[in-house]
Amino acid sequence: MLRSALLNVMIKAAQKASRALKRDFGEIEHLQVSVKGPGNFVTAADRRAEETLRQELELARPGYSFLGEEGGRHEGTDKTHCWIVDPLDGTLNFLHGIPHFAISIALEREGSIVAGVVYNPANDELFTAERGKGAFLNDRRLRVAARKRLADSVVACALPHPSRGDVVLTRNEHIAVQEKVASLRRFGAATLDLAWVAAGRLDAYWERGLSPWDMAAGIALVREAGGFVTDLDGGDITLTADGVVAGNDDIHRDLLRLLKGARGA
Ligand code: IPD
Ligand code: CA
Ligand code: CA
Repeated sequence: MLRSALLNVMIKAAQKASRALKRDFGEIEHLQVSVKGPGNFVTAADRRAEETLRQELELARPGYSFLGEEGGRHEGTDKTHCWIVDPLDGTLNFLHGIPHFAISIALEREGSIVAGVVYNPANDELFTAERGKGAFLNDRRLRVAARKRLADSVVACALPHPSRGDVVLTRNEHIAVQEKVASLRRFGAATLDLAWVAAGRLDAYWERGLSPWDMAAGIALVREAGGFVTDLDGGDITLTADGVVAGNDDIHRDLLRLLKGARGA
């Protein structure tokens, strides 16, 4: 499959960083039984992955700015371009030996996201998208699901820890949506939730309180797969939005309505 130079840069960086992550994931099993536990180990694993990503991306595109979950923002000489990176999304899954986690890289140009890569090293699924050029899973073109009825839909959501979210609001939203859909899911890696909406595996997804690196690449994927991705009011999504709602035209609209109802809006 012929890919653009930009996507090749992003994929190469993701694959390089994934090698150490894969090795570390293999170690987790042993660490789970160690006295110290795997917590610090994982912190080191995602820091190292981010460092590899930063080096690779800087080498290929010197001067671009960089925003990473671990190291924050590094201003480059080129203010119009910024990489937005989550070196390990789904940390808790990783920590528990659950093979559902990803490296996420997006490129922002003059405030809009022009490309996204989400790579799950555990099953070698590589999701890519570039503005105007479509979204792909490995070599296969992606299209959001065609389901029209909420009642047939599988929808992913979040279960935030009480320290990180409004528990009552979250429960109200869950109840409102659960009553209307075929089933709710909680997978634990926001970048893959968005990628799976793009792939048509999930009909829709919503979550509050995400960070730019959780959403950036996934937004490109959903859009390029023909889906809708907005904030909780149905407005244009921004990387500082309080929440994200993604799905195909019909399910996205119905989900927005249910969520508004749940918060009495
Ligand atoms: C988390 C995951 C999770 C989402 C959290 C994120 P992390 O990212 O994407 O699914 O619910 O809000 O912070 O910490 O694993 O990179
Ligand atoms: Ca994340
Ligand atoms: Ca992370």
